[in-house]
Amino acid sequence: PSPIRIALLGCGTVGSQVARILLADAEDLGNRAGAPLELVGVAVRTLDAQRDVELPDGLLTLDAESLVANADIVIELMGGMEPAKSLILRAIDHGAAVVSGNKALLAQDGPELYEQADAAGVQLSYEAAVAGAIPILRPIRDSLSGDRITRVLGIVNGTTNYILDQMDSTGARFADALKTAQDLGYAEADPTADIEGHDAAAKAAILASLSFHTRFALENVFFEGITSVTAQDIASAAEDGYVVKLLAIAELLGDASGADGVGVRVHPTLLPRSHPLAAVRGAFNAVFVEAENAGELMFYGQGAGGTPTASAVLGDVVSAARRMVLGGPGRTETTTGHVPALGIDAVRTSYCIALQVV
Ligand code: NDP
Ligand code: HSE
Repeated sequence: PSPIRIALLGCGTVGSQVARILLADAEDLGNRAGAPLELVGVAVRTLDAQRDVELPDGLLTLDAESLVANADIVIELMGGMEPAKSLILRAIDHGAAVVSGNKALLAQDGPELYEQADAAGVQLSYEAAVAGAIPILRPIRDSLSGDRITRVLGIVNGTTNYILDQMDSTGARFADALKTAQDLGYAEADPTADIEGHDAAAKAAILASLSFHTRFALENVFFEGITSVTAQDIASAAEDGYVVKLLAIAELLGDASGADGVGVRVHPTLLPRSHPLAAVRGAFNAVFVEAENAGELMFYGQGAGGTPTASAVLGDVVSAARRMVLGGPGRTETTTGHVPALGIDAVRTSYCIALQVV
């Protein structure tokens, strides 16, 4: 099959890792997709900035528009509203599949973008937009589509969880913990979005839309960040057996006669230390789902950072490429034949001890 041409918009914290993995693992990814995946260009603002990835000569460009016009899959990792939105619309217009991690844009203009993509018959995927590496959107949209979700509780912002955790466990100062979160690549370009709860609210809108089969925008979400949480609040909570977490909560609200609707909010909460979400440390995220038939489910993993988020982006890329190759939902992957299946004797000899600590 002919190569699938991939345009990458942005080469920052996440984009650089997507480019690195696309280049380093091209053969494996191509095997899984069913066609070679070719990175044809990377659009940035400045050509001479220092990058976290070594790119072949000629790949970087300032001309995002031309890049988009010649791609089969466009990965948008620039962030912000414009030109990200126009470039996504242009990609859809050209019939390209789009993968984005831009929760701020999706929470504001998602409905318009989804409609345009549906009308054009192209795929718009955004697993990376909520909770970094954690596969959460597809399980909610697909695996739980036969159930009724009643409540979703999420730690969906890595930066604020990192700050609160550092204040709780090491007594760090807010400003110092924020600076480290920025240095580690967790925070948004403007960290106000993290600490004021805007980023978590955007993710809550996306989660609520998929969980409750309706369309929530940022304006439907009540949100409050962590800037007013003090060291004293955290210490008092600890004395009483609680931990302070910034939670995104989407739930069916109503009286005994039935649900009136879905309420979505983000704010600092007191969680008993015994709650599974209380154990989510550092920049990790977790989403706790309550569903009528499945009961309680928890999804946990790295919620921010270049490489973990690149994992979610590339999952969407391979899935979009598979659809292109097969013109349908894609093949069910069994094996690519590159990793040998070990015989049981090799496994027993290497690892079998009476009670293994994992
Ligand atoms: P960065 O700020 O690190 O990178 C943004 C990149 O986009 C830079 O390479 C920048 O170019 C490029 N860019 C920005 N504006 C333009 C423009 N007008 N034209 C061309 N290129 C442009 O962002 P992140 O990688 O952290 O985030 C990217 C997206 O992914 C955002 O939507 C973010 O919300 C989302 N996200 C981020 C996560 C994270 O952990 N960081 C996790 C999940 C999602 P240049 O380098 O030349 O300045
Ligand atoms: N700034 C975001 C966070 C990145 O801290 O969670 C991941 O979406």
